[in-house]
Amino acid sequence: KKRIAVLISGRGSNMLSLLKLRNESDFNGLFSLVLSNKADAKGLETARNEGIETVFIDHKAFPDRESFDREMHATLLNHKIDFVVLAGFMRILSSWFVEQWEGRMINIHPSLLPLFRGVDTHRRALEEGVRLHGCTVHYVVPELDAGPIIAQAAVPVLPDDTEENLASRVLKQEHILYAQALKMICNHTVCLEGGKVLYQKNGALQQET
Ligand code: GAR
Repeated sequence: KKRIAVLISGRGSNMLSLLKLRNESDFNGLFSLVLSNKADAKGLETARNEGIETVFIDHKAFPDRESFDREMHATLLNHKIDFVVLAGFMRILSSWFVEQWEGRMINIHPSLLPLFRGVDTHRRALEEGVRLHGCTVHYVVPELDAGPIIAQAAVPVLPDDTEENLASRVLKQEHILYAQALKMICNHTVCLEGGKVLYQKNGALQQET
């Protein structure tokens, strides 16, 4: 089974929904570690209650981004992690770190990429007046929110939407989409090869056409 680390900075609702995959007997992953850069991340407590080992690494204790990332990397290796899942991890990762985990690290982003990279996606979607919003699961590359897309879910923007209720409808879809994507990866029905996402069809991995 693939040993998975989930990286969080806050609430951890995506992490919790991923942990439900443990109830699926055909899920080929093992949640080995939850790592947070924030001591007070609510998700750390949730993970402990779920019986998952947790680690807190304070990014403020390091002189620069890469030395923090090197400490995280060492921790991941110590736990024999095969695959990294970013779930509301709100630190930009160094190119060095991303290269160590190339093809073995995914992120969920609360917009239909390539629209609205970065933060405040729901506010910006409302400001732009888009009628369709959503979320994206993608492989992580050094450029922020720019990696190859694995899956997306669309959510309509309703006439009276506020940032809060749009965010909460998108979040519901995130929980479903992220678990589906992680299961596909762990069960080898999707992978990254030569910068392209390949999906299993007729027993072989190939590019969608
Ligand atoms: C989620 O909406 C996730 O898509 C977003 O943060 C939230 C975390 O919630 N991630 C990003 O914005 C990444 N740049 P959660 O802690 O409850 O999963």
